[in-house]
Amino acid sequence: MDKIIVKGGHPLQGEVVVSGAKNAALPILASALLADGKSVYRNVPDLADVVTMLKVLETMGCGTARLTGRQKDMCEVAIEGPITPEAPYDLVKTMRASVLVLGPLVARFGRARVSMPGGCAIGARPIDQHLKGLKALGADITLTEGYVEARAKQLKGATVNFDVITVTGTENVMMAAVLARGRTVLENCAREPEVEELARVLNKMGARIQGAGTSVITIDGVESLKPVDHAILPDRIEAGTLMVAAAITGGNVLVKHAQPEHLESVILKLRETGCTITAEEKGLRVKAPKVVNSVDVKTTEHPGFPTDMQAQLMGLMTVASGTSVISESIFENRFMHVPELHRMGADITIQGHTAVVKGVKKLSGAPVMATDLRASASLVLAGLRAEGKTEVARIYHLDRGYERLERKLRKLGADIRRVKA
Ligand code: EPZ
Repeated sequence: MDKIIVKGGHPLQGEVVVSGAKNAALPILASALLADGKSVYRNVPDLADVVTMLKVLETMGCGTARLTGRQKDMCEVAIEGPITPEAPYDLVKTMRASVLVLGPLVARFGRARVSMPGGCAIGARPIDQHLKGLKALGADITLTEGYVEARAKQLKGATVNFDVITVTGTENVMMAAVLARGRTVLENCAREPEVEELARVLNKMGARIQGAGTSVITIDGVESLKPVDHAILPDRIEAGTLMVAAAITGGNVLVKHAQPEHLESVILKLRETGCTITAEEKGLRVKAPKVVNSVDVKTTEHPGFPTDMQAQLMGLMTVASGTSVISESIFENRFMHVPELHRMGADITIQGHTAVVKGVKKLSGAPVMATDLRASASLVLAGLRAEGKTEVARIYHLDRGYERLERKLRKLGADIRRVKA
């Protein structure tokens, strides 16, 4: 098992390229199930979670290929033979987003058997809203032996009002509705850029979706879809993480391909900390302030401040010039990075879903343990600032969502490397 070793104190300088978005690639790869033939995806990030989604598709009988060399960010998914509409527990337990095959399978093949995802480090994360939506479209849903069994000869359009705003729930039901008979109206939808991107791909395949990116999405079902060739949009959370890396090290970095329109809440918050952020032709430039201001933040659904940036911003607030209050409103257990930041000398008090962070003069390097994807990123960021050496263990969490982060940071001047533990 690898770990990352960081020696802090080096202001990051230069340019870095953002990879394709994990949280767009996963539903888009699942959507390949909706059409016969070969779909081609470009700018697909080289992540453990992408490998898992390809395995889930292969297990069903899809042909998948990850190209190499100059085209190493390309993937092909081919539906050219019989499909066994089943996602096994062994794969789903490693990546809950595998549940995104449920909607496409029941819509396209009339049945699906998908393992229930189970709990997760950051929260219970039920899928009741996914099932509520599919039931409204006429699917017959049963839960047996830890599996969701969904059956429907033909899904029918309906109105679905989500009780909670759910990203993958919106995506799953949207993918089912594109082949349903008649019109579906989804209300209280997630407005994340990744939902919009999935709708863009489905419309390129021949679907008729309107309103993606707003809280009401209308889908007029069609008979069939065709395969697609699509380049995945840049990862706004990776971009945000790299922007915080520049801020926490006192650096000056151009984050190439970062899209300002997807990062408004993050840009505004970092400007409040004193960063100078300018949109340049190739991306976003971040110049760190001499002294980082402490800021308060509450995570909410898009376009609010993303929960997937909470841990990284907390890392920055540990060395800010005052006290900040960070409230996590999306997941009930997303402060697992706090005890590890304590080990580096951070002053953080948790009260329920709120963390009070008193900025300290300096952090000191220490051996720490990653507990989930974004927590691991915040520990690497704190290590870039800390005096001495930080060793981050269990970085398989990091590899789920960041494509060789240590190489990108090293290119910007960080003293960071990956070692076999
Ligand atoms: C997506 O997860 C992202 N994952 C998460 O990113 C992200 O944190 C999350 O959206 C919120 O932005 C992918 O896109 C693959 P939700 P998702 O359903 O869809 C509750 C990362 O770090 N809920 O929007 O699973 C749920 O418990 C990951 O890249 C229900 O109660 O999140 C949570 O409290 C982590 N019932 C809230 O809604 C449901 O049926 C939002 O969850 C579904 C969700």
